[in-house]
Amino acid sequence: MDKFIVKGGNTLSGEVEISAAKNAVLPIIAATILCADKCTIINCPMLLDVYVICDVLKILGAKVIIDAKSSTVNIDTSGINGIESGSNLVRKMRGSFLIMGAMISRFGRFKISLPGGCNIGTRPIDLHLKGFKSLGASVKIDHGYVEASSKKLRGERIYLDYPSVGATENIMMASVMAEGETIIENAAEEPEIGDLAKFLNKMGAKVSGIGTDTLKIIGVKELHGANYRPIYDRIEAGTFMIAAGITKSKFKIRGIDNEHIKPIVAKLTEMGIKIDLDKSQLIIDGTGTLKPIDIKTMPYPGFPTDMQAQMMSLLSVVKGTSVVTETIFENRFMHVTELKRMGANIKIDGRSAVIEGINRFTGAEVKATDLRAGAALVIAALGGEGETEIRDIYHIDRGYVEFEKKLRTLGADIRRMEV
Ligand code: UD1
Repeated sequence: MDKFIVKGGNTLSGEVEISAAKNAVLPIIAATILCADKCTIINCPMLLDVYVICDVLKILGAKVIIDAKSSTVNIDTSGINGIESGSNLVRKMRGSFLIMGAMISRFGRFKISLPGGCNIGTRPIDLHLKGFKSLGASVKIDHGYVEASSKKLRGERIYLDYPSVGATENIMMASVMAEGETIIENAAEEPEIGDLAKFLNKMGAKVSGIGTDTLKIIGVKELHGANYRPIYDRIEAGTFMIAAGITKSKFKIRGIDNEHIKPIVAKLTEMGIKIDLDKSQLIIDGTGTLKPIDIKTMPYPGFPTDMQAQMMSLLSVVKGTSVVTETIFENRFMHVTELKRMGANIKIDGRSAVIEGINRFTGAEVKATDLRAGAALVIAALGGEGETEIRDIYHIDRGYVEFEKKLRTLGADIRRMEV
């Protein structure tokens, strides 16, 4: 297992290029199951989670060729025959549950182990199952497995009690070849949902309402292979933007969609960070004096929960009192204990964290407890005094492409070491 050693204090400069979004590419790879054809993902982020979902497809019978040099993934799903139950697959990665909708759509049945909780909360799947049932599938939960089967899925009007990202994606994939019309109301509006819909349409699906909370899917007989380039990672971009604030630096970030990062831009601007925004790049200037702010995580276009930990790192070194309220996941404050080891002054009160700004972080031995918490610790360490050792960085490798290399290009002192 690797760890990062970060020596804080360097000012960052130059430019950094953002990769494609993990949360866009995972459902897109799952969607390739829907056709018995070849698909190519261009500019695919070479992340641990991507390798895992590709392994899942291989176990099901797909041929997957990953060319890490050209960041291209070729997937031929003609060999998937629906016989492999996939029962143990979700154990490797929760996101693998996204193959469920595509598998029942193509083969009429699928059995998979129930995804467990994870560090940030219990993460139920009731809304996914509600959607499958509405489409006419019978769903059975038994001995830790969930099995769905249906002779013919039929389009239906489905209201999601909560705009769950994964449920919206899974139901969309289950319904693209269902008979008739499916309407998903109160659907999640995250940009990654729109990206999946665009990929499905490229495969021959008929999804409309992209970017709204009501998706309309007209079932088609079959889908065909497609080439696709997923959207940029708004969370990776946001993480680098926050790093500019923590290190009091000014640099350029290339590879953004200015629409998708609006909620992050709004809050950083409110704090006093200057952002010169173009359509696909920006210059971030965190050299000024910053003000404390309050933040509440919300479904898109609200402030993303995946930016909450990184934002807490920044607010920890801004003079005054800030309040961060987490409304999406019930246990997403694991990073607080670690930030406190670095000197942060944070008190948790239920779903809120009250942060009293300190002067600067001090180096310590800390542990990444999940993906975004890990990133939050790295950027905190960059602005800190002395050396910080961050363990369990496999969490970070799940979702950030060459994080330390990109930071080093900007001038950070960060090394990866084997433990
Ligand atoms: C996705 C993202 C994750 C992000 C999250 C919220 C991927 C691979 N992951 O996760 O990075 O943090 O969206 O933006 O895209 N819920 C239910 N019942 C369900 C499903 C969800 O109650 O059937 C609840 C969850 O417990 C959670 C909330 O809904 O409290 C949001 O979850 P959801 O939007 O489904 O997140 P994920 O798709 O798991």
